[in-house]
Amino acid sequence: MNPRFSSDAITNPAVLRDLRVAVTGGTSGLGLALAGALAGQGARVAFVARHADAVRRTELAFPGTHGVVADVSRKEDIHPAAVQITGVLRGLDVLVNNASSLGPVPLALLADTQCEDVEHALATNVVGPFRLTKALFGALASSAREGRGAVVVNVSSDAAIHAYPTWGAYGASKAALHHLTRIWDEEARSEGVRFLSIDPGDMDTPLHALAVPDADRATLRHPDAAAREIVRAIVDALPPIGDEHATGVVERGGALHPRGDANVGWGPA
Ligand SMILES: NC(=O)c1ccc[n+]([C@@H]2O[C@H](COP(=O)([O-])OP(=O)(O)OC[C@H]3O[C@@H](n4cnc5c(N)ncnc54)[C@H](OP(=O)(O)O)[C@@H]3O)[C@@H](O)[C@H]2O)c1
Repeated sequence: MNPRFSSDAITNPAVLRDLRVAVTGGTSGLGLALAGALAGQGARVAFVARHADAVRRTELAFPGTHGVVADVSRKEDIHPAAVQITGVLRGLDVLVNNASSLGPVPLALLADTQCEDVEHALATNVVGPFRLTKALFGALASSAREGRGAVVVNVSSDAAIHAYPTWGAYGASKAALHHLTRIWDEEARSEGVRFLSIDPGDMDTPLHALAVPDADRATLRHPDAAAREIVRAIVDALPPIGDEHATGVVERGGALHPRGDANVGWGPA
Protein backbone atom coordinates (compact mmCIF):
# COMPACT_ATOMS: atom_id res chain seq x y z
CA MET A 1 0.00 0.00 0.00
CA ASN A 2 0.95 3.64 0.21
CA PRO A 3 2.11 3.77 -3.40
CA ARG A 4 4.34 6.55 -4.61
CA PHE A 5 3.47 8.15 -7.89
CA SER A 6 5.38 10.43 -10.18
CA SER A 7 4.11 13.97 -10.62
CA ASP A 8 3.97 13.53 -14.41
CA ALA A 9 1.06 14.90 -16.33
CA ILE A 10 -2.01 12.71 -16.29
CA THR A 11 -1.63 10.59 -19.41
CA ASN A 12 -5.21 9.44 -19.86
CA PRO A 13 -7.56 12.18 -18.71
CA ALA A 14 -10.47 10.68 -20.68
CA VAL A 15 -10.97 8.36 -17.73
CA LEU A 16 -11.71 11.40 -15.56
CA ARG A 17 -14.46 12.77 -17.77
CA ASP A 18 -17.83 12.29 -16.04
CA LEU A 19 -16.16 10.30 -13.27
CA ARG A 20 -18.33 10.70 -10.16
CA VAL A 21 -16.10 11.71 -7.25
CA ALA A 22 -16.79 12.68 -3.63
CA VAL A 23 -14.07 14.44 -1.61
CA THR A 24 -14.34 15.15 2.11
CA GLY A 25 -12.66 18.33 3.31
CA GLY A 26 -13.02 19.97 -0.11
CA THR A 27 -12.80 23.62 0.93
CA SER A 28 -9.13 23.94 1.92
CA GLY A 29 -5.66 22.57 1.28
CA LEU A 30 -5.45 19.21 -0.43
CA GLY A 31 -9.21 18.66 -0.69
CA LEU A 32 -9.70 22.03 -2.41
CA ALA A 33 -6.85 21.24 -4.82
CA LEU A 34 -8.40 17.83 -5.55
CA ALA A 35 -11.86 19.27 -6.16
CA GLY A 36 -10.39 21.83 -8.57
CA ALA A 37 -8.14 19.36 -10.38
CA LEU A 38 -10.91 16.79 -10.83
CA ALA A 39 -13.57 19.29 -11.87
CA GLY A 40 -11.08 20.87 -14.28
CA GLN A 41 -10.68 17.51 -16.00
CA GLY A 42 -14.43 17.03 -16.41
CA ALA A 43 -15.14 14.86 -13.37
CA ARG A 44 -18.42 15.39 -11.53
CA VAL A 45 -17.43 16.40 -8.02
CA ALA A 46 -19.29 16.53 -4.70
CA PHE A 47 -17.35 17.71 -1.70
CA VAL A 48 -18.02 17.83 2.04
CA ALA A 49 -17.01 20.35 4.71
CA ARG A 50 -18.50 21.81 7.89
CA HIS A 51 -18.61 25.54 7.16
CA ALA A 52 -21.39 26.59 4.78
CA ASP A 53 -19.70 29.85 3.74
CA ALA A 54 -16.54 28.07 2.56
CA VAL A 55 -18.63 25.40 0.86
CA ARG A 56 -20.48 28.07 -1.11
CA ARG A 57 -17.20 29.84 -2.03
CA THR A 58 -15.78 26.58 -3.34
CA GLU A 59 -18.88 25.89 -5.43
CA LEU A 60 -18.51 29.34 -6.96
CA ALA A 61 -14.78 28.82 -7.57
CA PHE A 62 -15.41 25.50 -9.35
CA PRO A 63 -18.76 25.77 -11.19
CA GLY A 64 -20.53 22.44 -11.51
CA THR A 65 -19.22 21.08 -8.23
CA HIS A 66 -21.72 20.41 -5.46
CA GLY A 67 -21.00 21.17 -1.81
CA VAL A 68 -22.42 19.20 1.10
CA VAL A 69 -22.35 20.80 4.53
CA ALA A 70 -21.63 18.00 6.98
CA ASP A 71 -19.26 16.98 9.75
CA VAL A 72 -17.79 13.53 9.10
CA SER A 73 -17.11 13.06 12.81
CA ARG A 74 -20.87 13.19 13.51
CA LYS A 75 -22.76 9.94 13.07
CA GLU A 76 -26.02 11.76 12.32
CA ASP A 77 -24.42 13.68 9.41
CA ILE A 78 -23.16 10.63 7.52
CA HIS A 79 -26.30 9.20 5.93
CA PRO A 80 -27.72 12.59 4.88
CA ALA A 81 -24.33 13.40 3.32
CA ALA A 82 -24.19 10.03 1.53
CA VAL A 83 -27.72 10.51 0.18
CA GLN A 84 -26.84 13.99 -1.11
CA ILE A 85 -23.65 12.70 -2.74
CA THR A 86 -25.26 9.80 -4.58
CA GLY A 87 -28.31 11.91 -5.41
CA VAL A 88 -26.44 14.76 -7.02
CA LEU A 89 -23.87 12.53 -8.76
CA ARG A 90 -26.40 9.77 -9.58
CA GLY A 91 -24.02 7.13 -8.21
CA LEU A 92 -20.40 7.17 -7.16
CA ASP A 93 -17.13 5.95 -8.67
CA VAL A 94 -14.53 7.45 -6.31
CA LEU A 95 -14.55 8.49 -2.66
CA VAL A 96 -11.64 10.45 -1.18
CA ASN A 97 -11.67 10.50 2.64
CA ASN A 98 -9.48 13.56 3.14
CA ALA A 99 -11.00 15.60 6.01
CA SER A 100 -8.91 15.33 9.13
CA SER A 101 -8.44 16.39 12.74
CA LEU A 102 -5.05 16.94 14.39
CA GLY A 103 -6.39 16.15 17.86
CA PRO A 104 -5.09 18.69 20.37
CA VAL A 105 -3.93 22.05 19.00
CA PRO A 106 -1.25 22.98 19.86
CA LEU A 107 0.01 19.42 19.53
CA ALA A 108 0.65 17.83 22.92
CA LEU A 109 2.44 14.95 24.57
CA LEU A 110 0.09 12.01 25.09
CA ALA A 111 0.30 12.49 28.85
CA ASP A 112 -1.05 16.02 28.35
CA THR A 113 -3.69 15.09 25.75
CA GLN A 114 -7.35 15.14 26.74
CA CYS A 115 -9.26 11.91 26.11
CA GLU A 116 -11.83 14.02 24.20
CA ASP A 117 -9.12 15.12 21.76
CA VAL A 118 -8.22 11.48 21.07
CA GLU A 119 -11.91 10.68 20.62
CA HIS A 120 -12.31 13.55 18.17
CA ALA A 121 -9.27 12.54 16.13
CA LEU A 122 -10.56 8.96 15.93
CA ALA A 123 -14.10 10.12 15.10
CA THR A 124 -12.88 12.38 12.26
CA ASN A 125 -9.99 10.34 10.89
CA VAL A 126 -11.17 6.75 11.35
CA VAL A 127 -14.80 6.24 12.33
CA GLY A 128 -16.11 9.02 10.05
CA PRO A 129 -14.36 7.65 6.94
CA PHE A 130 -15.47 4.14 7.94
CA ARG A 131 -19.11 5.18 8.30
CA LEU A 132 -19.10 7.21 5.08
CA THR A 133 -17.46 4.39 3.13
CA LYS A 134 -20.01 1.91 4.48
CA ALA A 135 -22.86 4.26 3.57
CA LEU A 136 -21.48 4.62 0.03
CA PHE A 137 -20.19 1.10 -0.50
CA GLY A 138 -23.32 -0.08 -2.34
CA ALA A 139 -22.98 2.75 -4.85
CA LEU A 140 -19.27 2.02 -5.31
CA ALA A 141 -19.83 -1.73 -5.76
CA SER A 142 -22.58 -0.99 -8.27
CA SER A 143 -20.18 1.21 -10.23
CA ALA A 144 -17.61 -1.59 -10.20
CA ARG A 145 -20.23 -4.08 -11.46
CA GLU A 146 -21.07 -1.73 -14.34
CA GLY A 147 -17.41 -1.79 -15.41
CA ARG A 148 -16.76 1.85 -14.42
CA GLY A 149 -14.47 0.83 -11.58
CA ALA A 150 -14.57 2.04 -7.98
CA VAL A 151 -11.83 3.51 -5.81
CA VAL A 152 -11.66 4.72 -2.21
CA VAL A 153 -8.66 6.89 -1.35
CA ASN A 154 -7.95 7.35 2.33
CA VAL A 155 -5.51 10.19 2.92
CA SER A 156 -2.80 9.04 5.28
CA SER A 157 0.36 10.59 6.72
CA ASP A 158 3.91 9.62 7.61
CA ALA A 159 2.66 10.04 11.20
CA ALA A 160 0.78 6.77 10.59
CA ILE A 161 4.14 5.00 10.39
CA HIS A 162 6.62 7.05 12.46
CA ALA A 163 6.26 7.70 16.20
CA TYR A 164 6.61 11.49 16.25
CA PRO A 165 6.39 12.94 19.79
CA THR A 166 3.28 15.17 20.27
CA TRP A 167 1.54 13.67 17.22
CA GLY A 168 -0.04 10.84 19.28
CA ALA A 169 -3.79 11.36 18.72
CA TYR A 170 -3.33 12.17 15.03
CA GLY A 171 -0.67 9.49 14.42
CA ALA A 172 -2.66 6.72 16.10
CA SER A 173 -5.78 7.66 14.14
CA LYS A 174 -3.90 7.76 10.83
CA ALA A 175 -2.27 4.38 11.63
CA ALA A 176 -5.73 2.92 12.21
CA LEU A 177 -7.02 4.44 8.97
CA HIS A 178 -4.01 3.11 7.04
CA HIS A 179 -4.52 -0.44 8.34
CA LEU A 180 -8.29 -0.28 7.83
CA THR A 181 -7.57 0.67 4.22
CA ARG A 182 -5.23 -2.29 3.69
CA ILE A 183 -7.76 -4.75 5.09
CA TRP A 184 -10.66 -3.26 3.17
CA ASP A 185 -8.63 -3.48 -0.03
CA GLU A 186 -8.13 -7.22 0.56
CA GLU A 187 -11.81 -7.74 1.34
CA ALA A 188 -13.35 -5.64 -1.45
CA ARG A 189 -11.00 -6.48 -4.30
CA SER A 190 -13.22 -9.39 -5.40
CA GLU A 191 -16.09 -6.90 -5.77
CA GLY A 192 -13.92 -4.63 -7.89
CA VAL A 193 -13.64 -1.85 -5.28
CA ARG A 194 -10.05 -0.72 -4.70
CA PHE A 195 -8.82 0.98 -1.52
CA LEU A 196 -5.68 3.16 -1.54
CA SER A 197 -3.90 4.71 1.43
CA ILE A 198 -1.87 7.69 0.27
CA ASP A 199 0.49 9.94 2.22
CA PRO A 200 0.50 13.33 0.43
CA GLY A 201 3.70 14.53 2.13
CA ASP A 202 4.19 17.80 4.03
CA MET A 203 2.05 20.47 2.34
CA ASP A 204 1.63 24.19 2.79
CA THR A 205 -1.93 24.16 4.17
CA PRO A 206 -3.85 25.57 7.14
CA LEU A 207 -3.64 22.18 8.88
CA HIS A 208 0.16 22.18 8.61
CA ALA A 209 0.31 25.77 9.88
CA LEU A 210 -1.74 24.77 12.91
CA ALA A 211 0.48 21.78 13.62
CA VAL A 212 3.87 23.40 12.92
CA PRO A 213 3.40 27.19 13.14
CA ASP A 214 7.12 27.95 12.74
CA ALA A 215 7.67 25.72 9.67
CA ASP A 216 9.59 27.14 6.72
CA ARG A 217 6.78 27.24 4.17
CA ALA A 218 9.29 27.23 1.29
CA THR A 219 10.15 23.62 2.18
CA LEU A 220 6.53 22.44 1.94
CA ARG A 221 4.78 21.03 -1.12
CA HIS A 222 2.01 22.93 -2.81
CA PRO A 223 -1.21 20.94 -2.34
CA ASP A 224 -1.76 21.02 -6.13
CA ALA A 225 1.29 18.74 -6.55
CA ALA A 226 -0.08 16.21 -4.06
CA ALA A 227 -3.52 16.44 -5.69
CA ARG A 228 -1.98 15.56 -9.07
CA GLU A 229 -0.38 12.45 -7.57
CA ILE A 230 -3.64 11.34 -6.04
CA VAL A 231 -5.54 11.87 -9.28
CA ARG A 232 -2.85 9.85 -11.03
CA ALA A 233 -3.26 7.05 -8.45
CA ILE A 234 -7.03 7.05 -9.00
CA VAL A 235 -6.57 6.84 -12.78
CA ASP A 236 -4.14 3.95 -12.35
CA ALA A 237 -6.57 2.07 -10.10
CA LEU A 238 -9.56 2.43 -12.43
CA PRO A 239 -10.10 0.00 -15.30
CA PRO A 240 -8.50 1.23 -18.54
CA ILE A 241 -11.04 3.26 -20.44
CA GLY A 242 -12.39 1.63 -23.58
CA ASP A 243 -11.46 -1.94 -22.54
CA GLU A 244 -15.07 -3.02 -22.43
CA HIS A 245 -15.89 -1.82 -25.93
CA ALA A 246 -14.30 -3.06 -29.11
CA THR A 247 -15.18 0.33 -30.60
CA GLY A 248 -12.77 2.00 -28.22
CA VAL A 249 -15.37 4.04 -26.41
CA VAL A 250 -16.72 3.85 -22.92
CA GLU A 251 -19.99 5.15 -21.62
CA ARG A 252 -19.91 7.44 -18.61
CA GLY A 253 -22.92 9.41 -17.49
CA GLY A 254 -24.74 8.68 -20.73
CA ALA A 255 -22.03 10.18 -22.96
CA LEU A 256 -19.71 8.28 -25.25
CA HIS A 257 -16.11 9.40 -25.24
CA PRO A 258 -13.22 8.47 -27.48
CA ARG A 259 -10.47 6.40 -25.94
CA GLY A 260 -7.25 7.97 -24.66
CA ASP A 261 -7.21 11.76 -24.99
CA ALA A 262 -3.47 11.71 -24.38
CA ASN A 263 -1.26 14.05 -22.41
CA VAL A 264 -3.23 16.95 -21.06
CA GLY A 265 -0.64 19.04 -19.26
CA TRP A 266 -1.20 19.93 -15.61
CA GLY A 267 1.50 22.53 -15.30
CA PRO A 268 4.64 22.17 -13.24
CA ALA A 269 4.60 19.93 -10.16
N1 LIG B 1 -0.83 19.35 5.32
C1 LIG B 1 0.08 18.40 5.47
O1 LIG B 1 1.27 18.66 5.55
C2 LIG B 1 -0.36 16.96 5.54
C3 LIG B 1 0.62 15.98 5.66
C4 LIG B 1 0.24 14.63 5.67
C5 LIG B 1 -1.10 14.32 5.57
N2 LIG B 1 -2.04 15.30 5.48
C6 LIG B 1 -3.44 14.92 5.35
O2 LIG B 1 -3.97 15.53 4.19
C7 LIG B 1 -5.38 15.73 4.36
C8 LIG B 1 -5.74 17.16 4.03
O3 LIG B 1 -5.07 18.02 4.93
P1 LIG B 1 -4.93 19.58 4.65
O4 LIG B 1 -3.62 19.95 5.19
O5 LIG B 1 -5.30 19.88 3.26
O6 LIG B 1 -6.06 20.16 5.67
P2 LIG B 1 -6.79 21.58 5.72
O7 LIG B 1 -6.18 22.57 4.82
O8 LIG B 1 -6.93 21.90 7.17
O9 LIG B 1 -8.27 21.27 5.14
C9 LIG B 1 -9.13 20.42 5.85
C10 LIG B 1 -10.47 20.35 5.15
O10 LIG B 1 -11.28 19.39 5.85
C11 LIG B 1 -12.49 20.01 6.28
N3 LIG B 1 -12.84 19.34 7.54
C12 LIG B 1 -12.13 19.31 8.68
N4 LIG B 1 -12.78 18.59 9.59
C13 LIG B 1 -13.92 18.15 9.01
C14 LIG B 1 -15.01 17.36 9.44
N5 LIG B 1 -15.07 16.87 10.71
N6 LIG B 1 -16.01 17.08 8.59
C15 LIG B 1 -15.97 17.57 7.32
N7 LIG B 1 -14.96 18.31 6.84
C16 LIG B 1 -13.96 18.61 7.69
C17 LIG B 1 -12.15 21.50 6.39
O11 LIG B 1 -13.28 22.36 6.25
P3 LIG B 1 -14.21 22.74 7.53
O12 LIG B 1 -13.27 23.24 8.58
O13 LIG B 1 -15.15 23.78 7.01
O14 LIG B 1 -14.93 21.49 7.91
C18 LIG B 1 -11.25 21.65 5.17
O15 LIG B 1 -12.04 21.72 3.99
C19 LIG B 1 -5.69 15.33 5.80
O16 LIG B 1 -6.16 14.00 5.83
C20 LIG B 1 -4.34 15.39 6.48
O17 LIG B 1 -4.26 14.57 7.62
C21 LIG B 1 -1.71 16.62 5.46
